Amino acid sequence: MPTINCNTTSFSLDSLKSACNQLNNHISFHIPGHKGNKQFNQFLKQAEQLDLTELPGLDDLYDPKSHIKDIEKNLSQIYGSNETIISTNGASSLIIASLIELGKSASHIIIPRNCHVSVINGLILTSLTPIWLELDYCDDFKTFTKINLKTLENLILKNINYNIGALLITQPSYAGYLNDVENIASLCAKYNLKLIVDEAHGAHLPFSHQSNYSGLKHKADIVIHSLHKTLSALSQAACLHLSERSGLNAIDLKQNLKLISTTSPSYLIMLSIEDSLKYINDDFISKKILLMEKFLSKLKLIDHIDIFNPATNQDIFHILIKDKNLAASDLMNILIDHNIYPEGIIGDGLLLMPGIGTSTKDVEFILNVLPKTFKYKNNFNKKRPKQNSHLNFDQVMSPSQAYTKPSRLVKTEDSLNLISAQTISKCPPGIPILVPGVKITSEIIESIDDLFVKVVDV
Ligand SMILES: Cc1ncc(COP(=O)(O)O)c(C=O)c1O
Repeated sequence: MPTINCNTTSFSLDSLKSACNQLNNHISFHIPGHKGNKQFNQFLKQAEQLDLTELPGLDDLYDPKSHIKDIEKNLSQIYGSNETIISTNGASSLIIASLIELGKSASHIIIPRNCHVSVINGLILTSLTPIWLELDYCDDFKTFTKINLKTLENLILKNINYNIGALLITQPSYAGYLNDVENIASLCAKYNLKLIVDEAHGAHLPFSHQSNYSGLKHKADIVIHSLHKTLSALSQAACLHLSERSGLNAIDLKQNLKLISTTSPSYLIMLSIEDSLKYINDDFISKKILLMEKFLSKLKLIDHIDIFNPATNQDIFHILIKDKNLAASDLMNILIDHNIYPEGIIGDGLLLMPGIGTSTKDVEFILNVLPKTFKYKNNFNKKRPKQNSHLNFDQVMSPSQAYTKPSRLVKTEDSLNLISAQTISKCPPGIPILVPGVKITSEIIESIDDLFVKVVDV
């Protein structure tokens, strides 16, 4: 095998492959939702032959007329939308495409503080200015919780003179918190705002006992699903649903999507979307939900494990836990030592993300390990890293203005009161701690320091 020599190290071109192979039989409590389960995406056995391009007869993602159109029509029918389009560039690209559309007619948009970084990328590419909505916060888990309806209405009224186009919410949140989307939709209707729901983590929601928490149920104007996070499609598979009352059309959104996406959309990803259609139904999903309910009920019996929001408005595929005796990073390391890989650390908690591919065996395995973690309490450093995602943003200019103006790098410690020209966010959860156009405060500097970021673009 050829090797590439770098200054300080050398590595084989096979290094990623061998790293992936080492994880071959691990227990996945992370994205993607298929969990490597062979039941799904069987076409991958012929991956080389099926990795194609827009050959005659294969249709065109950006101007679909036959097979791809059929996939979109099927998705639209299954999810009950007016129109649905698919993307092979993730929910991220569909969020950006939606913001480009909104930016054609509006100057402002209301965004809760827990949005995904792709929302900021969309703002940078439009002239939209965000109006930040503070969320309620769980001090125990250091994690955002709900959109307070009163706070939202006050914010709309305070900014009523702006041309606010929409409210864009994340549902469920990265931590799995489900908002009262029914009343949020009513509030949007009252003030004539479009409702865009980033339902990247909730593609299963409309087929669950929690369907009332899906934006689709309440005719949100745009609902965006990742089809790879909890469902079975390959990474980057996603779709966007338009409601009839949105007044938006798929052709315009496709144009926007084309502007920011690859010109070589992956047919493997499209095939995986077609394959996932077999499993997007009440029957299949409810079986998995039953398994998750059993998992949760057993988890609740473990004394030293706390569960975030153990209520009916917690998404069943997002389980955020805390060990009373261990930092989240220590708990994560213990699980990894047992070949169990969680999704990531959120605030003071550890996020487990089962999915449609999770098996009874996976659940039994983790339920066998978690009761034993109390043994480790004396071996670990109890100091928890600071998590300062709960920061107010003072947006003094639009993200696109701040991003496109000439800027310079300054040491993080010298950036107080300067205006950021960049986004800083850590994935997971991908929630920004700094956004272009925001004035840098001492709390933000503290947060940036926590990520060991030494310079900031201002
Ligand atoms: C809340 C949220 N929205 C959107 C996205 C983007 O999804 P995708 O990975 O499909 O681009 C993510 C990714 O983690 C996310 O957490």
